[in-house]
Amino acid sequence: MHPRPLLGVNIDHVATLRQARGTIYPDPIEAAGCAEQAGADSITLHLREDRRHIQDQDVWRLRDSINIPINLELANSEEMIAFACRLAPQYCCLVPERRAELTTEGGLDLHSQGQQIQDSCTRLRTAGIRVALFIEATPEHIEQAAALGASCVELHTGPLANATPETQKQEQSRLQAGVEHGLKLGLRVHAGHGLHYDNVTQVSCIAGISELNIGHSIVARAVFTGMEAAVREMKQLILGSQPAP
Ligand code: PXP
Repeated sequence: MHPRPLLGVNIDHVATLRQARGTIYPDPIEAAGCAEQAGADSITLHLREDRRHIQDQDVWRLRDSINIPINLELANSEEMIAFACRLAPQYCCLVPERRAELTTEGGLDLHSQGQQIQDSCTRLRTAGIRVALFIEATPEHIEQAAALGASCVELHTGPLANATPETQKQEQSRLQAGVEHGLKLGLRVHAGHGLHYDNVTQVSCIAGISELNIGHSIVARAVFTGMEAAVREMKQLILGSQPAP
C-alpha cells in the first residue's frame, strides 16, 4: 500500500479575512476546530513578523483549543525563535520572510544563513519541537539541510503548482527526485505551497512524502462549501491518489 501524506491545514487566510476589516470574525481558531473535525492531521499557522494575519493571541488560543499537533511556521529571527520556544508547539517550520512579499516566495537560503539556521534548529529541538526547513527541491538544498542537522525538510511545491502543461511533468519528476534524495539522506520529507484541488494529486501520488501543508485553496473553497467540507474534499483527494509510476 502506498501510504498517503498527512494533511496539515494552514489557517492563516481565515485571519487575513478578519484583519482586512479589523473585526473579531472569522475566527481562525474556529476554522482550526472545523478542520480537525473534518480529518486534518495538524494545523499550520504562520506568525509573520508584520503580524499581517495571525496574531500572537491566536497562537496561544490555538494551543488550548485543538487535539491535533500545531505546526508553527516562522522566520529565523530572535523574536520568533524565542516565541516558539515559549509556546513549544509540536512542530515548527523555518521559512524565509520578506516584508513586501504576498506569500512565502522561495525556500530558505541555507548557504549564507546556515550557521544561524543550525543554531535555531538546536534551540527549537532542545525545547522539544520537531523542526522542518522549507527549501527548494534541489539536491544542493536537500544536502545542505541534512548537513545542518535537520531531520525534516518541507519541499517547495510552488514551481510545480505554477508549471505550464509543457513543464508540469518535468517539475513533478524534479520534486520526486528531491523526495527520493531526502529519504536517502534519512530526512523526513514534507511538501507544500500553492497546492489546490486540481493539482494536489500531482504531489500526493509521490511516494515518500509524509505530509502536505495546504492553506489558501482550502480557505478559498470554504467560502462556498464551509471549512469542514473543504478539508474533507482535500483529504479525500489525497487519500484517493494513485502512486506515481
Ligand atoms: N508551506 C509553507 C512553508 C508556507 O509558507 C505556506 C504558505 O504559508 C504553505 C505551505 C501553504 O501554502 P498555500 O497557502 O499556498 O497552500
